[in-house]
Amino acid sequence: MRKFAAILFLALSFGAKAQVQITPQDKERASALVKQMTLEEKCRFIAGARSFYTYAIPRLGIPEIRMADGPQGVRNNTVSTLYPCGILTASTWNRDLAHRLGNSLADDCRARGVSILLGPGVNIYRAPMCGRNFEYFGEDPYLAGETAAQYILGVQEKGVMATVKHFAANNQERARHTMSSDVDERTLQEIYFPAFRKAVQEGGVGAVMDSYNLVNSVHSTENAWMNKVVLRDQWGFEGIVMSDWTSVYSTIGAVNGGLDLECPKGVFFTPEKIVPLIENGVLEESLIDEKVQHILQTFIAFGFLDKPQKDESIPENNPQSAATALDIAREGVVLLKNENALPFTKKSKILVVGNNGIKMPHGGGSGEVTPFYTISVADGLKALHKKVTVIEDKSLLEQEMASCTDVVYCCGFNRDLEGEAFDRPFSLTPKQLELMERIQQNLTAKQHLTVIINAGGAVDMSGWRDHADAILMAWYPGQEGGTALAEILTGRISPSGKLPISIEEKAEDNPSFATYFDAGSKQSRTSYSEGIFTGYRGYDKTGVKPLYPFGFGLSYSTFKYSNLAVEVLPDGNVKVSFDVTNTGKKDAAEIGQVYVRDVKSSVPRPLKELKGYDKHFVGKGKTVRYSAVLDRYAFSFYDTASHSFKLEGGEFEILAGPSSADLPLKATIQL
Ligand code: GLC
Repeated sequence: MRKFAAILFLALSFGAKAQVQITPQDKERASALVKQMTLEEKCRFIAGARSFYTYAIPRLGIPEIRMADGPQGVRNNTVSTLYPCGILTASTWNRDLAHRLGNSLADDCRARGVSILLGPGVNIYRAPMCGRNFEYFGEDPYLAGETAAQYILGVQEKGVMATVKHFAANNQERARHTMSSDVDERTLQEIYFPAFRKAVQEGGVGAVMDSYNLVNSVHSTENAWMNKVVLRDQWGFEGIVMSDWTSVYSTIGAVNGGLDLECPKGVFFTPEKIVPLIENGVLEESLIDEKVQHILQTFIAFGFLDKPQKDESIPENNPQSAATALDIAREGVVLLKNENALPFTKKSKILVVGNNGIKMPHGGGSGEVTPFYTISVADGLKALHKKVTVIEDKSLLEQEMASCTDVVYCCGFNRDLEGEAFDRPFSLTPKQLELMERIQQNLTAKQHLTVIINAGGAVDMSGWRDHADAILMAWYPGQEGGTALAEILTGRISPSGKLPISIEEKAEDNPSFATYFDAGSKQSRTSYSEGIFTGYRGYDKTGVKPLYPFGFGLSYSTFKYSNLAVEVLPDGNVKVSFDVTNTGKKDAAEIGQVYVRDVKSSVPRPLKELKGYDKHFVGKGKTVRYSAVLDRYAFSFYDTASHSFKLEGGEFEILAGPSSADLPLKATIQL
């Protein structure tokens, strides 16, 4: 254990890299326009004119502004690039790739004249059943926040406004309009808010989309504490607070609750509803002015009033976007198990089984995209390997298995089994389990079974995991997914993704299990009784071991971690660095993780928390120096008495290694 004496100066340094800033001039220009608008115009302007379009006021030079979903590609009446889903992007642990995804999404928007992209989705993964986990960035607030900030910077530096969603605690889909997420303040601030805070403070996000659900019994679109005290006063947000589609439930509540823009269109934000309330003194007109001001100053800052959004020079079917989708898929697939099965050799005779191997699936709902094409696992393997057979009809299974050395069973979910507005079971479908059984019964001792899972989160592996020689978590890898998976299966590239979630052995192992909605429950609220101890924080507390821990992922190579160093930078942050040596036989990328432990604190704190990571491509036999910079949030906890993050002096441990369950390097510092 290496001891470092360090006094941490409470320096706040947010990289204001390429953020879109709302300047005083933007505000003045907006204010001048507000003064010229009639009350009726103002009431119409704070609601969509029609779905995905804001209200135009041509006499004042205010055009209609087009929005479009979604986090994994441009939707709404267009064909476009289908990127890997959010949780796969998080599994790359690659900030540059998240930034590049933002760039490509912005290109796809500009090619179509879209000004506002309704993404990223950043809700924390609390349990595997949530139908929209696939769109989000996993269970850890630090990884989700880093991914979100880079995605947003990438989108916005190319002239498109991003929208971080769904604010907040929208961690299940069942009864999403009526259920209340009951979460204490510290848990919100330490777990469910940080990705939104980083989106605002480091990403400079232009818009925040409120969620459908209630938070502590108050609808998000009426929640002044969230939309004003937290967003504006605590975090300094100056952009647009928009509703989700039909997530406004009253006029007075939403006007007073800090909502700026009702989507898709005016139901409660209409002149007919608002003007009488102003005339009767129930509502102040200044509140309406403030909403118009937020919308206009943000539009002005993004240049939406000064230049056409469509860029004719950008192709709608953009090879650069396809290349981005492929690179993300290559780095986000996670190898969970590999016992002498992968990579295949030139002599391998591969049998692809399962619908997901023939048609590349994606998650369902508003995050869907209609791609120009998709590459399935079968397509990808056929392009790279000679001996590939694909089972279109199950009846030939036993016959075809006799011809092969390796079975690749592609299972999991698709847009009908996992998506928006519904939750899913933890288990694979009965049909898939039956087919898995048939395959395993027909495997000879010489044959290998590789299972590829398409899902937005954990699935129950207890019944079949031991009989699979290799398991890949492919999430929903997008239109180029089949190529990326084939390159990994045939050893052209090593897998390097690592889990942004913990994968439990049994459903009841999950720290949230006791209070997560189940299909039968009638309750209209979910109490987040596990508090901050969700995900790996919860497993560290309960002592239950997950099947695959947060941050875990295998490679085709092996790595050694050494030479940890910790130093305090002039700005008061703490720089952590260490060596990673590729001790294996294959060049490969590796993700190094840094966790912090508060050895002694006045409040209960997790055993450790992810507060840094770095990723590099390391040639076989080579050593690369990794580094991470920890800011004051890395050491602080949220103090509900002062309603702020607080750093208590004392001893902290800095832990570094390949996963949350494998941290060979340790140092202590005194703060
Ligand atoms: C949906 C989703 C939201 C999406 C919006 C527009 O219901 O919750 O993520 O952006 O409506 O489709």
